[in-house]
Amino acid sequence: MNYTKPKTMDVRTAFKNGITQLREADVPSFTLAAELLLLHVLGRNRTWLYAHPEEIITDIDAQRFFELIARRAAGEPTQHLTGKQEFWGLEFEVTPDVLIPRPETEHVIEVALDRLALRELRAGRPQKSTGEGLQIADIGTGSGCIAIALAKELPAANFVATDISPAALAVARRNAQRHAVADRIDFREANLLSPVGAQHVAPLLGKIQNSAPPASHESQVTGHESRPFHLIASNPPYIGRREAPSLPREVRDHEPHSALFGGEEGYELYADLISQAARHLKPGGLLVLELGHNSLPAVQPLLEASAWTNVGVTNDLAGIPRVLAAERL
Ligand SMILES: C[S@@+](CC[C@H](N)C(=O)[O-])C[C@H]1O[C@@H](n2cnc3c(N)ncnc32)[C@H](O)[C@@H]1O
Repeated sequence: MNYTKPKTMDVRTAFKNGITQLREADVPSFTLAAELLLLHVLGRNRTWLYAHPEEIITDIDAQRFFELIARRAAGEPTQHLTGKQEFWGLEFEVTPDVLIPRPETEHVIEVALDRLALRELRAGRPQKSTGEGLQIADIGTGSGCIAIALAKELPAANFVATDISPAALAVARRNAQRHAVADRIDFREANLLSPVGAQHVAPLLGKIQNSAPPASHESQVTGHESRPFHLIASNPPYIGRREAPSLPREVRDHEPHSALFGGEEGYELYADLISQAARHLKPGGLLVLELGHNSLPAVQPLLEASAWTNVGVTNDLAGIPRVLAAERL
């Protein structure tokens, strides 16, 4: 689209022109996208934006804004242009190397915290835990959002966060530093819980096994060193490759395929994930998995009654079964 910028431009005009261009390019949530890009360029917040519609913006800012609008109109996700996304009330750095954290993944955090609180209640301890003595794994950490959100909620817990992508791990490490939890999260390149190139999982768990558990968790640790985790959470890739043609271009053309696709059908990774989780969770340990929109019928039967109990499914706000949780026997 040809656009001729007037000599000077106020905030309202820039905003309206941005909205028009994004609407004409069929960008979803075009008003929000234009707003986020304008706020990003101006370094302002929403309150300022709506309180100062007459403010003149500099030529440089106008040029930067319309460059971003053009890139958004061409399909780049807004979060790649601003470099950030909020998750669990925290701001995360986002690059094309990581999945953009989604709101539905917050249900993973909610379910994990609810289940941990229930465990504390059952053990006669205060429901609101600091996570002292807890060893938690986040498999397929991406931006680090699950491990970091849990680390903020459980300020004494320790974490291993794995990803098969070293580039994603670099982003996750920066996010952990940004939120001051890097000292409690051990980021590891791994295929699920198996270190890449290693025959055995022991090196991955070295740091965790060296940390002494407090008395309250001792009975669960004794004799189960090879099963070190109290909680394993994961949002694995779960979209089917055959669904690729129907994905929005923002997702298909810009987010990492290793973060999106779990196989031809989408649910292929869950079998390995569940069997590895079974081998690494303590008795009574919790598994919390995010599900794809149609994964439940394929995934729930993998939780065999001989190994798992208290299986529960949580729907997301759209009513889709989104989180599967279970307790290791
Ligand atoms: C759906 S993304 C989830 C990212 C982040 N946890 C979130 O919720 O936004 C899945 C992540 O798993 C990683 N991944 C894919 N296959 C993996 C595997 N076999 N082992 C470990 N990580 C894997 C991808 O690189 C990607 O970062």
